Amino acid sequence: MPLVSMRQLLDEAAKGGYGVGAFNVNNMEQIQAIMEAARETKSPVIVQASRGARAYTNDKFLYHLMLAATELYPEIPMVLHQDHGNSVETCKSAMAMGFTSVMMDGSLMADGKTPSSFEYNVSVTREVVEAAHAKGITVEGEIGCLGGIEDGHGAGGDALAHLTDPDQAVEFVRLTGVDALAIAIGTSHGAYKFTRKPTGETLKMDRLIEIHRRLPNTHLVMHGSSSVPKDLQDIINQYGGKLKPTWGVPIEEIQLGIKNGVRKINVDTDSRLAITGAIRKVFFEKPEEFDPRSYLKPAREAMEKVVAQRMTQFGQAGHAGDYTPIPLEEMAKRYRLQHLAS
Ligand code: G3H
Ligand code: 13P
Ligand code: ZN
Repeated sequence: MPLVSMRQLLDEAAKGGYGVGAFNVNNMEQIQAIMEAARETKSPVIVQASRGARAYTNDKFLYHLMLAATELYPEIPMVLHQDHGNSVETCKSAMAMGFTSVMMDGSLMADGKTPSSFEYNVSVTREVVEAAHAKGITVEGEIGCLGGIEDGHGAGGDALAHLTDPDQAVEFVRLTGVDALAIAIGTSHGAYKFTRKPTGETLKMDRLIEIHRRLPNTHLVMHGSSSVPKDLQDIINQYGGKLKPTWGVPIEEIQLGIKNGVRKINVDTDSRLAITGAIRKVFFEKPEEFDPRSYLKPAREAMEKVVAQRMTQFGQAGHAGDYTPIPLEEMAKRYRLQHLAS
């Protein structure tokens, strides 16, 4: 199956009332883990690459791995998405390479750290929407900023400092025409999201519900949505790791989000934890091993397991065969008609 537009995949998810995990990739083992999990659970997938991932793989390797995935898993609708594009140029280079969806994260300046103005965000996002929709490519925007700077994306330590304002969200969607909207409700990237199980004080699901009420036809995106499960933390620490106690986003909160307009759920940290735990275990139990396959195979299996679990929990499992991909040219035509009608 060719790569598909994220707009189609999220429209289908909205029709079916389920969410779709967007899993980050940086290498062959991660792509294989996601595709095997998708096959096992019969799920449509969003595979996303950060700027760091594109630099790490030098673009070409990443893109050709994705093409290999479309050939080897022809039954799986797959989106290739740019995660946290920091500038119009980053998004345009992803489009030129064949990505079928881009995130223009104009909530921060191009440094990925400094919160931007509403006007700046609208202007860069609008420019990306115009270029992308002309090619049938989907655009995700962000309003409000995630917390944390652990991985270089985020506005600082306090995840509650830049929550999404529902009025601004409505205005932002109207002015930019984005297909999907990432909102800030108290999450942050990485393993250290919450110091205890989040409550309504730290994870603002009420804010999400309000935004969905105001924007019932916009696909919402939850970033920083790894659950950071205790069992994955324990494996790492059992085999010599030093993770501090921490909490992620509980699955039941994500499921509540899915009932309230969340269609894309970003998960990277859970995959990283699964991979690292499996590798540490081999290193600890078999210090004589030095064939990379002896630890990368269990690492790949551990990631597949957590991704398959998320696909089932988000509800995308069983939906891979529901639809045939709409070609990007047809998507571009639809955007043109929509634009003329508005
Ligand atoms: O946006 C956050 C993702 O976890 C990607 O992180 O920039 O380290 O690849 P990264
Ligand atoms: P996690 O760090 O919670 O996995 O979030 C990933 C993310 O939001 C990527 O954009
Ligand atoms: Zn993110």
